[in-house]
Amino acid sequence: MVFLDELQKRKTFAIIAHPDAGKTTLTEKLLLFGGAIQEAGAVKSNKIKKHATSDFMEIEKQRGISVATSVMAFEYRDKQINILDTPGHKDFAEDTYRTLTAVDSVIVVIDVAKGVEEQTERLVEVCRMRKTPIIVFINKLDREGKDGFDLLDEIEQKLKLKVIPLSWPAGMGQRFKGVYSLYEKNLILFRAHAKQDDDNIFKISDLSDPLLDDQIGKPLADELRDEVHTIESIYPEFSREDYLKGDVSPVFFGSAVNNFGVRELLDCFVDIAPQPMGRDTEERHIQPEEEKFTGFIFKIHANMDPKHRDRIAFLRVCSGTFERNTNYYHVRQEKNLKFSNPTAFMASKKSVIDEAYPGDIVGLYDSGNFKIGDSLTEGEKLHFKGIPSFSPEQFRFVNNTDPMKTKQLNKGLDQLMDEGVAQLFTKEDNGRKIIGTVGALQFDIIQYRLKHEYGASCDYEPVNLYKAFWIDSKNPGAVKELVARRKKDIARDTDGKLVFLAESAWSLKMAQENHPEVDFHFTSEY
Ligand code: G4P
Repeated sequence: MVFLDELQKRKTFAIIAHPDAGKTTLTEKLLLFGGAIQEAGAVKSNKIKKHATSDFMEIEKQRGISVATSVMAFEYRDKQINILDTPGHKDFAEDTYRTLTAVDSVIVVIDVAKGVEEQTERLVEVCRMRKTPIIVFINKLDREGKDGFDLLDEIEQKLKLKVIPLSWPAGMGQRFKGVYSLYEKNLILFRAHAKQDDDNIFKISDLSDPLLDDQIGKPLADELRDEVHTIESIYPEFSREDYLKGDVSPVFFGSAVNNFGVRELLDCFVDIAPQPMGRDTEERHIQPEEEKFTGFIFKIHANMDPKHRDRIAFLRVCSGTFERNTNYYHVRQEKNLKFSNPTAFMASKKSVIDEAYPGDIVGLYDSGNFKIGDSLTEGEKLHFKGIPSFSPEQFRFVNNTDPMKTKQLNKGLDQLMDEGVAQLFTKEDNGRKIIGTVGALQFDIIQYRLKHEYGASCDYEPVNLYKAFWIDSKNPGAVKELVARRKKDIARDTDGKLVFLAESAWSLKMAQENHPEVDFHFTSEY
């Protein structure tokens, strides 16, 4: 059956990393293998490509930070690989969290010299919560870095992942000679910037082979033999089942910029990574094989073309076949919508598609119908779970500085919040609006976009807040009492949910102690 074949072909994943670990470089090399782009080019042209292929917004170009999450698809060994790009900058962490709801697995890139960095810890935590299967790629082996065993320990401790190395480096930095694949049981010798299908790749199938000493020198060959022996005695054999359950993570070593170790990673990924998996809704679990189409919006991208105020809503197809020009039910708005130009993304190219299958990401042109988390179905009332908002880290009052443009300001704020740029809280006592963000950059972006897209202007006023907590209770009276007693600390989010704005960890603690029946949630979904 075409549908099942298409479903089984798909592998939808994201690469996550702390900025500068090599995510863009690795993405580009993968696209190169898939023939989705023709030339990786030098490092400098990567940066240009970075803008050309994944940065849509003008503001991004100005700041040189990848704000956008773009989608790139390519075919490799009869599989369709969908890569969802994620912004590495920590101010856009929420964007990345939401993207992770739309993938079935991830590859984590770690810089061999820097080890596990802060941003990686947070992102992996989100994957762990969702039990997303993770493959680890340790990058930049052509540079001096941390000892391999120390790194594996660090990954286990900081990322709380159980790891199993499937490849192992012979030396690193100046001494880097290649990578031994424990998965395929062969050694691939390193040549900087070599194309991997060139014949200067030397394969050896048995580590005890004296040829190994000729190739990399006896001391390094013995070191490799010892280390591989140690690995084989310490780590259990790799089990795909455990990986798919999110219980173990295979680890690869390589150098993305040198195109080294990338093919091994991709080949293994294609072998082991999951096909599209089911999703939970509040009502029931959705299986991808189900005949009827369902999907959810995980990202809204505005301003693709600054001349038109158009937006693209990114839909993840969860089950059934999505078809062009077909009516689908927009559950939140309780109305039918059809799409004449649904778009697929092939690297830098966009193209209109007639149908899409589970695991696919479709871009829908949107004039303001969608909000992040919205469901589309063939009529069933389903609400997909797992797209929570997290408490912001920074808060400011927003003031209207042009009273003639109040309407525009409100509309702009509403739409930017629907896109998930930031969160808006309206205080219960005086109706003042507070914007909460993950990073300071969003405040500038909001100001800029309100001005350029809505003709509205605003400024900010500091507000001393620690975090926002969504509140509820089995006993409605308990929430009522908290709201009555702490009115100045209570606000509503854009869905009308009640939120406690804590000035400090101490004030949260006091509120919890004084109102033991109220639950304080760090995310909007509980
Ligand atoms: P990111 O998307 O995770 O932020 O990282 P990106 O791929 O942009 O890579 C960050 C830097 O690391 C780039 O250098 C890139 O060339 C370099 N890099 C990637 N893989 C490797 C590798 O295997 N070995 C070494 N030695 N370097 C690697 P840059 O100087 O910051 O880029 P540019 O400013 O020269 O363009």
